Amino acid sequence: MSIDAGCTLVQRRERIDGDGVYLRKFSSQDIDAVLDTANDTESMLGFFTQNRGDYEQALHYVRVAERAWDYGWMLPYAIVDAETDQSVGMHQVNLTQVAFGRVTVGAWVAPSFRRKGYSLRSLNAVVDWLRTEKSVFRVDAFVHESNGASYRVLEKAGFEREGVLRNWEVIDGKSRDMLSYAYLIDRS
Ligand SMILES: CC(C)(COP(=O)(O)OP(=O)(O)OC[C@H]1O[C@@H](n2cnc3c(N)ncnc32)[C@H](O)[C@@H]1OP(=O)(O)O)[C@@H](O)C(=O)NCCC(=O)NCCS
Repeated sequence: MSIDAGCTLVQRRERIDGDGVYLRKFSSQDIDAVLDTANDTESMLGFFTQNRGDYEQALHYVRVAERAWDYGWMLPYAIVDAETDQSVGMHQVNLTQVAFGRVTVGAWVAPSFRRKGYSLRSLNAVVDWLRTEKSVFRVDAFVHESNGASYRVLEKAGFEREGVLRNWEVIDGKSRDMLSYAYLIDRS
């Protein structure tokens, strides 16, 4: 089933090309990247897959991603190396607030592929695409204060820090603050 809800305001791309990377719909061929990342304590994916390293849970994560794509509000793209076709991670594009001009992005890269520029090049490609979408005025991202890797990537891509969102997220009964980042698109 394809409802394409968020995609009525944004022209969803089946493939987004960037510098040495491309993005395509996340699918079961990306399960190794999910398993690799679910075992990584630095990343939040273990939390989402419930059971670190469990194949069934990883498959469930993939199925949820595929369903989200079909509905069109949240687009989970696989980040793929353009030379090797190796899938290295995920970039999500959340269109739930697009009616207000806002799109939220987030990403993870499997541990063995980090610090090779995949996240930055993928983010640049996503921003280049969203800049062409007339209804998007703001791309935002929310990052835990301790996640230096993530906010360095955002800053390199031209995002600016706006402030701290207090008690933004509760995990294991503990509230955590988040940094708010945004990339503004001037449509005037
Ligand atoms: C955050 C994350 C996506 C970055 O992915 P990545 O592909 O390794 O990032 P890049 O290689 O594109 O990094 C680009 C730049 O960001 C900075 N950076 C990235 N990781 C860093 C780290 N661990 N420490 C310091 N700087 C870092 C560097 O400036 C880097 O450029 P350089 O390698 O030329 O110095 C990855 O670390 C990850 O998946 N983390 C766990 C999941 C997560 O936290 N996701 C974000 C949720 S909002």
